Amino acid sequence: MRIWLKNLNESHISSVVEIEQLCFRDPWCEQYIRETVMRSTVTAKVAEYGKDVVGWVVFEQLPHGQVQICTVGVHPERRREGIGTFLLFAAIDSLRTKKLSHLMADCRESNTAAHLFLAANEFVAVRIIREFYTDTGEDAFCFDYWEQDRPVNRIAKYLQAQEQKDVGHQG
Ligand SMILES: CC(C)(COP(=O)(O)OP(=O)(O)OC[C@H]1O[C@@H](n2cnc3c(N)ncnc32)[C@H](O)[C@@H]1OP(=O)(O)O)[C@@H](O)C(=O)NCCC(=O)NCCS
Repeated sequence: MRIWLKNLNESHISSVVEIEQLCFRDPWCEQYIRETVMRSTVTAKVAEYGKDVVGWVVFEQLPHGQVQICTVGVHPERRREGIGTFLLFAAIDSLRTKKLSHLMADCRESNTAAHLFLAANEFVAVRIIREFYTDTGEDAFCFDYWEQDRPVNRIAKYLQAQEQKDVGHQG
């Protein structure tokens, strides 16, 4: 059986509430889910396997051309089957279609699976927000994904300039 990606609708709400509870220590409640997905800037997709919702993703287009992954979760019994990546692709696809600059995603310091998942999908850790999660005092790790025109960081630029200088000297 195949996994299908669908826009979230009313029939999916109870399943995504359950997935949130299975995935996070501070899950979104039904009311928060409803309020969030109603915003015109927000896209919510579910992954369906047969009649079962096995994962979901919510992302939001921000004013300066970025897309924020607000939540992404896969049912614990269906992990490591590529479903999380499939859901991320929905956000990457939206980035491409709308020609936006980059995707952003945050996760807890202790969420090693999320760190590895994002890194496996070419996200790069770019900053840390100290004590962001008030329940545990944990830091948030912020990751970015650039489809194109990724800014070269200053150290890379410096090394590149040094290399060119060395080549010049040799010549
Ligand atoms: C993070 C999460 C969404 C990943 O979903 P998933 O469907 O298991 O992810 P995928 O199968 O697409 O994984 C893709 C790759 O990410 C990496 N990865 C994902 N989960 C991993 C884990 N627990 N340990 C190590 N690597 C992992 C692997 O490289 C994996 O490829 P592989 O299975 O071929 O080795 C899922 O674990 C989840 O729902 N976690 C709880 C919610 C959460 O933390 N969300 C925040 C995400 S930013």
